[in-house]
Amino acid sequence: MEVLLLFLAVFVALTSLNVVESRKTPVLEYFEYCAVNCRAYSASLTDFGGVGDGETLNTKAFQTAIDHLSQYSSNGGSQLYVPPGRWLTGSFNVTSHFTLFIHKDAVILGSQDENDWPVIDPLPSYGRGRDTQGGRFRSLIFGTNLTDVIITGDNGTLDGQGELWWQKFHHGQLSYTRPYLIEIMYSDNIQISNLTLVNSPSWNVHPVYSSNVIVQGITILAPVNSPNTDGINPDSCTNTRIEDCYIVSGDDCVAVKSGWDEYGIAYGMPTKQLVIRRLTCISPTSAVIALGSEMSGGIEDVRAEDIVAINSESGVRIKTAVGRGGYVKDIYVRRMTMKTMKWAFWMTGDYGSHADNNYDPNALPVVQNVNYRDMVADNVTMAAKLEGISNAPFTGICISNVTIGLAKKAKKVPWNCTDIAGISSGVTPSPCDLLPDQGVQKIGACTFPEDNLPIEDIKVQTCTYYRRKL
Ligand SMILES: *[C@@H]1O[C@H](CO)[C@@H](O)[C@H](O)[C@H]1NC(C)=O
Ligand SMILES: *[C@@H]1O[C@H](CO)[C@@H](O)[C@H](O)[C@H]1NC(C)=O
Ligand SMILES: *[C@@H]1O[C@H](CO)[C@@H](O)[C@H](O)[C@H]1NC(C)=O
Ligand SMILES: *[C@@H]1O[C@H](CO)[C@@H](O)[C@H](O)[C@H]1NC(C)=O
Ligand SMILES: *[C@@H]1O[C@H](CO)[C@@H](O)[C@H](O)[C@H]1NC(C)=O
Ligand SMILES: *[C@@H]1O[C@H](CO)[C@@H](O)[C@H](O)[C@H]1NC(C)=O
Ligand SMILES: *[C@@H]1O[C@H](CO)[C@@H](O)[C@H](O)[C@H]1NC(C)=O
Repeated sequence: MEVLLLFLAVFVALTSLNVVESRKTPVLEYFEYCAVNCRAYSASLTDFGGVGDGETLNTKAFQTAIDHLSQYSSNGGSQLYVPPGRWLTGSFNVTSHFTLFIHKDAVILGSQDENDWPVIDPLPSYGRGRDTQGGRFRSLIFGTNLTDVIITGDNGTLDGQGELWWQKFHHGQLSYTRPYLIEIMYSDNIQISNLTLVNSPSWNVHPVYSSNVIVQGITILAPVNSPNTDGINPDSCTNTRIEDCYIVSGDDCVAVKSGWDEYGIAYGMPTKQLVIRRLTCISPTSAVIALGSEMSGGIEDVRAEDIVAINSESGVRIKTAVGRGGYVKDIYVRRMTMKTMKWAFWMTGDYGSHADNNYDPNALPVVQNVNYRDMVADNVTMAAKLEGISNAPFTGICISNVTIGLAKKAKKVPWNCTDIAGISSGVTPSPCDLLPDQGVQKIGACTFPEDNLPIEDIKVQTCTYYRRKL
């Protein structure tokens, strides 16, 4: 039956492309790309009045196009092509069973006018905006309550033109929380791939309350002193795969989150089953991978491997505080190469930064089963600063087969550990007493799961885009 349906689908596709007709109406555009799902209907932004001159506002063109294409959601899906040009736009939202394809010479430029950014409610798990109380500007590309959304290209660009927003942030002139470049909420089956994201007003990619998310082949660039320009922030998401990304930014390259204090505890939605691999990060003032600081819904089963860190503040950082509640557990990191770091490993139990003063001082976060192995670091100021919470120590920490080369101006004491418990083996320089050495024969002591997460088995296929003269 399935084979027959497939045959029929191919037959229909071929006849609709039939040679006689296409001779009369030549194909204007044709290309192939990789995606988890292909689409039946195609359109170009220019079909809806888009003007790529860098000055004309295209919000209406984007929204008209996508609203029009949303009629195909239950009928094979649709794709919108953004051709070469500079496409100024305010925030627009996407739809289900939909692909946005951005050509490599296309730049989607974020408008500098606040009126082009609708204001939406704060996230329920945060209780307020990150920059201000109350609402937040909707992201440049926004989606909510969707299924099967692909935002891709052959390395097309989203440019948030963030400078103005950063100035407003520094001068306390924001009326609402700054927008992100891409935010997808309450959605399932998301692919964000083969794009370059530059100068985001704030975070770059924010999947939240979503599942089955793939972020692949993304380049993220922002000045290293730009405020809160986090790279990719999976937030209360299940089954996420982040791979082959290159990030240079002013904040954490990947920041794993799940809500803030009493709001996050009440919402109770963890981030779990997260794969991060083949990531290269430069983040002089922040972490390569941060877990927290907002983690009140819990963070569980994170697997990171083949990470390159250059000139970054810390490699893996766990940030939490009394009042956060939640947990960070079953964290596995291996094969990380670090060059020029302040701290290879950092855990902070008194990060502070509360949503408001109504947090529960008895809500103690749990940090347990954290495994780091097979790493080499060079030119490091301090190997590790691991500070747990006195009445809630961080336990089950395992560090094995890690060699840390210290900088000329390194701290005299390379490890400083308080309120933690765990083991180590084959680690240089010698770890603190709270991580007793089990001997080099246990060099592979720290575990890394051998099974695959479901998101690792999702395959991409070759899709085609073609558009005939209207
Ligand atoms: C876009 O969002 C607005 C509300 O913000 C909604 O009315 C509209 O239906 C959405 N369009 C699509 C295509 O999802
Ligand atoms: C989106 O989904 C959330 C969570 O299921 C729900 O609370 C909300 O009402 C939905 N919003 C819309 C516009 O359907
Ligand atoms: C994409 O473009 C960025 C910015 O120009 C560049 O640094 C990166 O190498 C490109 N990626 C690919 C895969 O071509
Ligand atoms: C997208 O990026 C992947 C690597 O993540 C690469 O294999 C693929 O060729 C790229 N596709 C396009 C259309 O650029
Ligand atoms: C080592 O790190 C310092 C900053 O801490 C930097 O100035 C120096 O260039 C680095 N040296 C090497 C060899 O990378
Ligand atoms: C130790 O880690 C290095 C990478 O840093 C790796 O090449 C080596 O195989 C590891 N050794 C063991 C015994 O796992
Ligand atoms: C280690 O950390 C503790 C707690 O932050 C601090 O009080 C102490 O001074 C540190 N010790 C060294 C040697 O840096």
